[in-house]
Amino acid sequence: MSKQAVSGVPWAKPVLHILCLLPFAYIVWAALSESLGTDPVKALILLTGEWSIRILILILAITPLRQWLNMPALLRYRRMLGLYAWFYVNLHFLVVLTYLFAWDWQIAQEELLERPYIVAGFLAWLFMLPLGVTSNNRAVRALGRNWRKLHKLIYVVAILAWVHVFWQVRSSYFDAALYGTLILLLFYPRLKKICETR
Ligand code: HEM
Repeated sequence: MSKQAVSGVPWAKPVLHILCLLPFAYIVWAALSESLGTDPVKALILLTGEWSIRILILILAITPLRQWLNMPALLRYRRMLGLYAWFYVNLHFLVVLTYLFAWDWQIAQEELLERPYIVAGFLAWLFMLPLGVTSNNRAVRALGRNWRKLHKLIYVVAILAWVHVFWQVRSSYFDAALYGTLILLLFYPRLKKICETR
């Protein structure tokens, strides 16, 4: 196995940072230049939500890709992607709290009754919370082997995020079906492993 496959290439992290920040740069640019369309709040929620679930799916893809491509180095980028997923989810949540709920519990309750799928999104965020706060070196060292166990919560997060997206489909099922298929495909090796060890 080549050294690059084991320890990665030096430019991979900067490139990944740029790629992960591009959607944010676009969101900021579109908001400042009033290019978010006729319903800017909806556009902001959709953009931040879409990038959250895309990065989540990319995180799930790391383990199978690492095996198929025989590149253990890919594992080095998982924590970084996790932090970007956490960043976009928080942005998504913040936009909802600020522009949809106006930080008003009464309005939030009314919205929750009208859009129950928000509960699944909130649960996904809640399960991501321990992952987000333990994604630093100190927590990794302090938790030891339990860190990896805890971070298996990412599978629960992915399912809840998918339920959140599927539940709100009104016209086209394309995105929800695509995300669902990808999540199922990425779960398959893990499910197989669980079944084999029983
Ligand atoms: C892991 C967490 C989450 C992910 C991955 C996620 C993802 C998404 C995605 C992809 C959409 C767009 C669906 C579409 O294309 O129609 C969306 C919409 C939405 N999300 Fe989330 N979400 C998450 C958490 C949350 C939370 C915590 C809240 C609020 C408490 C929330 C509230 C909403 C709302 C209100 C919409 C609908 C916007 C509209 O159609 O007007 N989400 N989310």
